[in-house]
Amino acid sequence: MNLPNMLDAKKRDKNAVIDNYQYKEVKIDESLVGKKFFVRTYGCQMNEHDGEKVKGVLTSQGLIETSVLEEADIIILNTCAIRENAHDKVFGFMGLIKKMKETKPNLLMGICGCMAQEESVVNEIRNKYKYVDFIFGTHNLDNMISVINERVTSGKQNIEVYSVLGNVCEGIPEVRDNKYSAWVDIILGCDKFCTYCIVPYTRGTQRSRKIEDIIEEVKGLQKLGYKEVTLLGQNVNAYGKDLYSDKTLADLLRAVSDTGIERIRFVTSHPWDFTDEMVDAIAECDNVMPYVHLPIQSGSDRILKLMGRKYTVDEYIDLYNKIRSKVKDVSITTDIIVGFPGETEEDFECTLKVVNECKFDGAFTFVFSPRENTPAALLKDDTPLDVKNDRLHKLNEIVNKYSNEANQKMVGNVYKCLVLGKSEKDQSKFMGYTENMKLVNIISDDNVIGKIIDVRIDEAKSFSLNGTHVDE
Ligand code: SAH
Ligand code: SF4
Ligand code: F3S
Repeated sequence: MNLPNMLDAKKRDKNAVIDNYQYKEVKIDESLVGKKFFVRTYGCQMNEHDGEKVKGVLTSQGLIETSVLEEADIIILNTCAIRENAHDKVFGFMGLIKKMKETKPNLLMGICGCMAQEESVVNEIRNKYKYVDFIFGTHNLDNMISVINERVTSGKQNIEVYSVLGNVCEGIPEVRDNKYSAWVDIILGCDKFCTYCIVPYTRGTQRSRKIEDIIEEVKGLQKLGYKEVTLLGQNVNAYGKDLYSDKTLADLLRAVSDTGIERIRFVTSHPWDFTDEMVDAIAECDNVMPYVHLPIQSGSDRILKLMGRKYTVDEYIDLYNKIRSKVKDVSITTDIIVGFPGETEEDFECTLKVVNECKFDGAFTFVFSPRENTPAALLKDDTPLDVKNDRLHKLNEIVNKYSNEANQKMVGNVYKCLVLGKSEKDQSKFMGYTENMKLVNIISDDNVIGKIIDVRIDEAKSFSLNGTHVDE
């Protein structure tokens, strides 16, 4: 048993040596070999990718994945802590599993991911949710089998969570959700400590993977037929800072570009670390896709300062314009929080003004949610929730107007799309993405899954496009 501690999670020891190590296989208890498991993942792309590792480790031990909850002998919830509603979803789902356990006493359920790193959540589960069998954290995913084995042999709830700086474990088995587009971690954790955000506490210090390890992974994916990699990090633009004195994201992008893989993407970019060299690398490498997710969070300098974002609106707009002018046909999306503590009507108007000026291709918008132990949770917040919700609604209308406008401009033109599978809504169609990351539902007479094809855009909506496969 080892419990998380938020104060330890906050520590950053610049002199600590953080070593990379190789995944060490642990055999799962014999009683579980051949059993079925179900994994549900919440949250960001990095967590999606962690979900692929959870599946990979279990599969490597002879367990079989099922997508049917009722069939499962082990259920794992890979959780997110970014906002309160992420919590609510998980606790809601746990209630359902409790019911299942009444008729299936040997069913095991475990929790991992960012909620597992939260002290209050783990204490609550220890006291009130005794039917949760095991918990492991973001720092010991590679050792999850030991955590499960301990639960099986002891017959007791087993919690094994560490609030440490973190390490990089290479070679964790993975079962990837898609055969043509793959996630690749490049930098774990985050040291930015934006005042509203829990991620630096749940994911530990910022640590980069070595360029050679990343390149090896990309080459391996290429051999398997992957056409696209998305380089992942909470702030990919800080890549290398903790590891190299002379290598940055720009060098990494060029090195990955040299592998010749068809498409390279990267998320998420913090404006603070975005250098001219990085803009040039994106502009100059043909296989680095023209798409940048560049969260602004607020259009008010006063609020940005309170958020600890370390840039002004003018600096953001300069960077935004630089990317727009240098990277051909680029699309740029953003994240915005409304109702940060003390946000006035005036501050909110500033946010609308920036959105009207930038005309983003899309934006993820959120109402501020106070998170345990973060500085912003202690700020006085006297804006009523209905006012915050009104602001969100108003913002979304403007955001959607601009994404629709950007999409309408594409109608009639032909774009290259990587087809990832069948369309979710209509199985007779395919779905793929343009180079600038627009989702397209595609009509084609051929089986085009896994191919990069030319698509004429016939119709545009706010969140997707409809198109037809055409010959080159
Ligand atoms: N690392 C990324 C963001 C990761 S979290 C970055 O810095 O850009 C994704 C988004 O969730 C953030 O950009 C922010 O808009 C939102 N978010 C994070 N913490 C939040 C909170 N406490 N309340 C509401 N939204 C939040
Ligand atoms: Fe959170 Fe800020 Fe780090 Fe993004 S950069 S993960 S918002 S602390
Ligand atoms: Fe959520 Fe953790 Fe990602 S809090 S957004 S799953 S890093």
